[in-house]
Amino acid sequence: MADLLSLQLTLPSPSVPFTASKHKMPTKSMAASVFGSAATAAAASSTTRFLSSAARATLSFSSRSSSLLSRSSSSSSLKSLGSSPSISHLFLNQGRPSSRVSNRGFSAASNPKCLSSDPEQLKNAREDIKQLLKTTFCHPILVRLGWHDAGTYNKDIEDWPQRGGANGSLRFDVELGHGANAGLVNALKLIEPIKKKYSNVTYADLFQLASATAIEEAGGPKIPMKYGRVDVVGPEQCPEEGRLPDAGPPSPAAHLRDVFYRMGLNDKEIVALSGAHTLGRSRPERSGWGKPETKYTKDGPGAPGGQSWTAQWLKFDNSYFKDIKERTDQELLVLPTDAVLFGDPSFKVYAEKYVEDQEAFFKDYAEAHAKLSNLGAKFDPPEGIVIDDASSTPA
Ligand code: HEM
Repeated sequence: MADLLSLQLTLPSPSVPFTASKHKMPTKSMAASVFGSAATAAAASSTTRFLSSAARATLSFSSRSSSLLSRSSSSSSLKSLGSSPSISHLFLNQGRPSSRVSNRGFSAASNPKCLSSDPEQLKNAREDIKQLLKTTFCHPILVRLGWHDAGTYNKDIEDWPQRGGANGSLRFDVELGHGANAGLVNALKLIEPIKKKYSNVTYADLFQLASATAIEEAGGPKIPMKYGRVDVVGPEQCPEEGRLPDAGPPSPAAHLRDVFYRMGLNDKEIVALSGAHTLGRSRPERSGWGKPETKYTKDGPGAPGGQSWTAQWLKFDNSYFKDIKERTDQELLVLPTDAVLFGDPSFKVYAEKYVEDQEAFFKDYAEAHAKLSNLGAKFDPPEGIVIDDASSTPA
């Protein structure tokens, strides 16, 4: 078995460089927005995966080339998800062969414990995500999926995965069931076929790949991403509920700082990242925030309804900052945590800058997004995997 495994692990490699390198919502409906409206388990499981890889290696050896809804409806869909054998299998099946890549001195072949993604599969998965975006216009929810997986990170906890962050834990029902994640089961359903097709891409990477690709395809900046995130293996490794921000806390500025500073992010990054609300909508039946529909959302695209922050809510630009500053269009949403970006003196410096200077927003957003996507992640190899051209510099 060991020989077969090592043969599988030393298959020819694609030429890809390795370089060094969640929202707790109010429950009450606010139809008119307020302002406009365990390490041990992992080790054991690694062994299981290792054996499973070996078993697959045996099977594929000869070819050498193989390698969602309202809060209430969300919970019902969670139930159906859990009861669906195929989906349960998909979400729980962590077994996958190790990466078979060597380049620039790093050889996954020499690292049989490599548990992360295959670069070629990452690239192909990205193309499939682009197609998905073109047909379903799901950019916003994919961005929210990536953010909610990463945003549970606690910089004061050293151990992985207890520290939370971008580790794929959001695929488990227990975490999907957190109030802040209402509706995200739909995002999982959308990317499920891609995960199935590219089993050598981890969930943690797929979530972040989908989010960054959605930003870029919506007209946003190129995000200097790296991949290689290792997945948690069981629901017991999910973070506890309550690590993501609340949209209507008593002191929005203090709350945002509590939550984002815990992630190791600063005021500039809070403001830049909030700019992601240039995309998407809020739905009262999910988060409790926003109108059921507006003139901008009643016809979709995608599932109609909800209230958007911007008129063109599938286009990534700096209109979010312009619109929440002006607050003249009652059809557009401004959450308390959005409004405070112009109310708090430190946040305001950045928010005003982004109103005037879209290029500055894009630059700061790209850096902050890449940083967010790496929070809490365990990379294998440690320096990560770059799937873009040599010119892009991962954070
Ligand atoms: C600053 C704290 C934040 C709060 C309080 C907050 C709150 C919310 C709320 C209430 C919704 C509506 C969810 C629904 O009803 O479906 C939402 C949606 C969204 N959020 Fe945030 N958010 C925050 C930060 C972020 C960040 C940092 C990102 C990304 C970098 C982000 C990206 C999105 C996107 C893209 C949507 C639209 C989802 C869709 O249309 O399906 N948010 N957020």
